Amino acid sequence: MNSEKQPIEKILKKGALIGIIGMGYVGLPLVLRFCEEDFRVLGFDIDSKKVATLKKGKSYLKSILSSRISRFIRNGRLDVTDDFSRLHKPDCILICVPTPLTEKMEPDLQYIEKTAEAIRRNLRKGQLIVLESTTYPGTTEELLLPKLESTGLKVGKDFFLAFSPEREDPGNKRFMTHQIPKVVAGVTPSCQKVVTTLYRQIIQKVVPVSSTRVAELTKLLENIYRSVNIALVNELKMLTDRMGIDIWEVIEAASTKPFGFSPFYPGPGMGGHCIPIDPYYLSWKAREYDFTTRFIFLAGEINVHVPYYVVAKVQDALNGRGKSVKGAKILILGVAYKKDVDDARESPALAIMDLLRKKGAVLFYHDPYIPALPSFRKYSFQLKSSPLTERLLRRIDAAVVVTDHSIDYRRIAKLVPLLIDTRNVTKGMERYKKKIVKA
Ligand SMILES: NC(=O)c1ccc[n+]([C@@H]2O[C@H](COP(=O)([O-])OP(=O)(O)OC[C@H]3O[C@@H](n4cnc5c(N)ncnc54)[C@H](O)[C@@H]3O)[C@@H](O)[C@H]2O)c1
Repeated sequence: MNSEKQPIEKILKKGALIGIIGMGYVGLPLVLRFCEEDFRVLGFDIDSKKVATLKKGKSYLKSILSSRISRFIRNGRLDVTDDFSRLHKPDCILICVPTPLTEKMEPDLQYIEKTAEAIRRNLRKGQLIVLESTTYPGTTEELLLPKLESTGLKVGKDFFLAFSPEREDPGNKRFMTHQIPKVVAGVTPSCQKVVTTLYRQIIQKVVPVSSTRVAELTKLLENIYRSVNIALVNELKMLTDRMGIDIWEVIEAASTKPFGFSPFYPGPGMGGHCIPIDPYYLSWKAREYDFTTRFIFLAGEINVHVPYYVVAKVQDALNGRGKSVKGAKILILGVAYKKDVDDARESPALAIMDLLRKKGAVLFYHDPYIPALPSFRKYSFQLKSSPLTERLLRRIDAAVVVTDHSIDYRRIAKLVPLLIDTRNVTKGMERYKKKIVKA
């Protein structure tokens, strides 16, 4: 009998137990997708607080309602644990742990390494292991494979190993997890068959590719493409500002071309835990091939500079009103890294706030999704979100739109003395033109 036949039959009959490691922005939606398709799921996380919250049927992510979780906890389809000795139980194990950078901007693989070790200790025949975390080409075969085969079990025969990059886009209401095509690659043809069968149960379109390295690089290409194009429009925005041309109007006009142009929009700098980070996974790997990824570095350089540009615009605007940043009351509108999400990791708001604080500004912020600012890798602010009362809006010297959350900007424009707009939320507000500065 083919080694893959049994696991495939178990998956098709929905008898396979699915183990998901890392209950974060990526892992949790996957958990729910499998539960929705009648699979039993065992979630793993090292964070015992998250485990306890999930076990109570509660969510800690704004994009996921508690009711979606509690339903499956109650009917017993979902269990969550921090006991990694239970890793021998699932038939399929999906790894969704973080892949950040070290201080020196190099891949920090400690989370994948720790997870791989926990799986190795519990690996049994018939299991499928899939890495979902974003990483450089080669991670699955160079890091995971030797570790798992050190048990004496053979890939493609005793166990199955694959890579499938995650394309989760938190806050995106247009595309749900099952509607986003999923690229998959197995280490061997048997691994490919098992992993393709698994994802076909929960995703409408599965896209098999020829190797795990292709699948790993696919995800990086997607993020590098965004990083480079965002840098391009950010650079052009700084030029068009000098030229007295509105970059937003230019992009809108260029977007009427029905082919060969995809719009990207400028902003306050690049944020999130993917686009500013993932490209460096490839730069690092490229060094092994005596290769310098110049586009990646150039894009990084430009995007890192944008918060400085925004702060200079704030400074100039205040100066134009006879004020200095020192002592000015500045309200930051939105600290999340993008619209309508509750995640401030790597948000350019933090860099902007840090620069303004160093210049002596008195800071306030408002973010309907982030009631208090936690501490971050580089920054720490002891601030809570201020309600947008008329008193506050009239009292401040300037407001800076950093994240274009869905709030009433017309009211803000009406009440504040100065509005710095990095997101074009004031488009069409001719009435308040004199106090609006695009940055
Ligand atoms: N968030 C996104 O939009 C997104 C999109 C595509 C890809 N990714 C990638 O997916 C991966 C996960 O990202 P995320 O945003 O879900 O991260 P996250 O920080 O939201 O979640 C990761 C979870 O893993 C847990 N964890 C850490 N180490 C662990 C370990 N050794 N064992 C078990 N659990 C552990 C953490 O406690 C946390 O709950 C990363 O590689 C990221 O680049 C994220």
